[in-house]
Amino acid sequence: MINVLFVCLGNICRSPMAEAIFRDIVKKENLTDKITVDSAATSFWHIGSPPHKGTLSILKKYSIFGEDLVGRQITTKDFERFDYIIGMDENNIKNINAITVQPHHAKIIRFLDLTDDKKDVPDPYYTGDFQETYELVSKGCIALLEMIRVEQLITK
Ligand code: 4NP
Repeated sequence: MINVLFVCLGNICRSPMAEAIFRDIVKKENLTDKITVDSAATSFWHIGSPPHKGTLSILKKYSIFGEDLVGRQITTKDFERFDYIIGMDENNIKNINAITVQPHHAKIIRFLDLTDDKKDVPDPYYTGDFQETYELVSKGCIALLEMIRVEQLITK
């Protein structure tokens, strides 16, 4: 199994959106027996909470299921469990690195560094623009699957 964890500050806007979109792609590509997907926050603020209503409505707009998602905080165990830990922005990466346990095999990546648009994923909690975030996250998900296919020798 290849285990992927998306991480953001609150685990209610960007990382659950990425989890739902990537899970949807994995399902459509018939890779559910090879890839698992989860998401978590660097903060404790929204443990047990559903995604933000803006995230749920943009997912609904594209017929992607996200109603089952529940906020949780990243733990040191996640560095053993996950192969890819994908942070939405530079601050997430700093916070993830601050709690990493050594040695670990998880590959820690700022999400959009996988694309030609290397920047932080804008946080719609502050921008209010869930559409912009959806488009960037979708782009990131496609690039992530491509990288995983190459690294893990998954053929189409
Ligand atoms: P997220 O956005 O990290 O994309 O889930 C945020 C969610 C909540 C807060 C900040 C950012 N907050 O301050 O509660």
